Amino acid sequence: MTHYLGIDIGTTATKTLLVREDGKVVAEASCSYPLEQPKPGWTQQDPEDWWKATVQTVREVMSKSRVAATDVGALGLSGQMHGSVFLDKQHRVIRPALLWNDQRTEAECAEITTRAGGRKALIRLVANPALTGFQAPKILWLRNHESKAFAKLAKVLLPKDEIRRRLTGDCVTEVSDASGTLLLDVVKRRWSKTLIGKLDLDPDLLPQVVESEDVTGTLTADAAEALGLTTRCKVVGGAGDCAAGAIGNGIVRSGILSTSIGTSGVMFVHCDQPQYDTLGRLHTFCHAVRDQWHMMGVNLTSGGSLQWWVENILAASLAASDTAGTDKLYKRATEEAEAVAAGSGGLLFLPYLNGERTPHADPSARGAFVGLNLTHGRGHLTRAVMEGVTFALLDSLEIIRSLDVNVKEIRASGGGSRNRLWRQMQADIFGTAITTLTVEQGPAYGVALLAAVGDGTYKNIQQACRDTINVAEKTPPNRKNTKSYQALFPIYQRLYTHLQQDFADLTAQANASS
Ligand code: XUL
Repeated sequence: MTHYLGIDIGTTATKTLLVREDGKVVAEASCSYPLEQPKPGWTQQDPEDWWKATVQTVREVMSKSRVAATDVGALGLSGQMHGSVFLDKQHRVIRPALLWNDQRTEAECAEITTRAGGRKALIRLVANPALTGFQAPKILWLRNHESKAFAKLAKVLLPKDEIRRRLTGDCVTEVSDASGTLLLDVVKRRWSKTLIGKLDLDPDLLPQVVESEDVTGTLTADAAEALGLTTRCKVVGGAGDCAAGAIGNGIVRSGILSTSIGTSGVMFVHCDQPQYDTLGRLHTFCHAVRDQWHMMGVNLTSGGSLQWWVENILAASLAASDTAGTDKLYKRATEEAEAVAAGSGGLLFLPYLNGERTPHADPSARGAFVGLNLTHGRGHLTRAVMEGVTFALLDSLEIIRSLDVNVKEIRASGGGSRNRLWRQMQADIFGTAITTLTVEQGPAYGVALLAAVGDGTYKNIQQACRDTINVAEKTPPNRKNTKSYQALFPIYQRLYTHLQQDFADLTAQANASS
């Protein structure tokens, strides 16, 4: 049987799956790497770490499964979106890559908006406003702040496309990830020459752009040897992790919305036509499905908030009460949160630990617990963190609901769907049933399916999803909890407005003293 590899270059780790042509996962592996945070709000990674993790995880799935290298027909790449890998003429990496949640480019976002002729004009060109995480402001940041590095710049790639370059030798991207650069004409699915010109950038900095299922090349002899595969293995376009995750979740036709809680939290809705939020709060991107689009809202620190809370703050106090090992920490923290009633005793958490994207687009936004009193214990705080993240997703869902978008089903994925309490909380806070898949494998699975389509095993991605993905469980909302949350949500929404100026002042203070 032919097999396909799906490789997802995530923020915390690379995850690789080996998938049989009928959709069965035969082996999986993951390898984590560090995140550099040289200043508050700055995030960077060394692309070499992604490559080492790719080699290690591919070798691991091949040896675990004992599948012959000649049976691997194609591979698909997925990855954290928006990051910038800066390469010189010899395709050497010039400096660490700036990531999707890096917040250093506020001034460059203003510069782009002005050069484009204002926010509305920019949205007309590339369907989206300038947001700090996107790639284009990062290129301008390099030009404005590291002119020597900029002088050497010959190519800018997205994280997964840097891995493609190392696999095939070619600089190529695909429409879903290219949408998050802010340089793609999302409606026409090709680079916006107009905006590139207005920004005074050389169009040759950008790679060729293809559809997500297109074959972009085959492995070079060096890459085949490094990975233990053959030079006949094809590499397809793949997708940014949000579109790839949506495919892995079966979101390939209109009517289904997916919520996914990983490091970030994403509300993703499929559209047959390019649709916009005129206020630019939601992103409008190309889907990894040919000639289809999607809108999405992103909370930057979703699973990231729980991770911060459990691993950085709670760990010491939980460890003192007998809990060793990360899994046990989360289990214990969740049990404590479950023992607390919906609403956490009037305690709210704002999950803006590294600024926020949807709906506030505010790099200075900060996290906050509001409403603490002496009766609150660990369980209240943990529950408030999970509720705060889910309210942040509800912010996006409410915008989607206010637009003319067809939503018949909400499908949950990521860590937030595997955790029973968080799954129920989502149903309660969204006020609607949540469906989940029998086996949920995320972005790596989505791009393994794209590889199978590119290799001709399936006619198209819709057929691949129909043949391989099964919806398993339905979690209905608890109406009593929904009522409590409906009363709390307007208070949650007001808090950001009340605190916005204080967040800006605090961030300015912290920057001045760092
Ligand atoms: C999407 C986004 C994040 C990253 C995380 O716009 O910024 O979801 O892709 O990997």
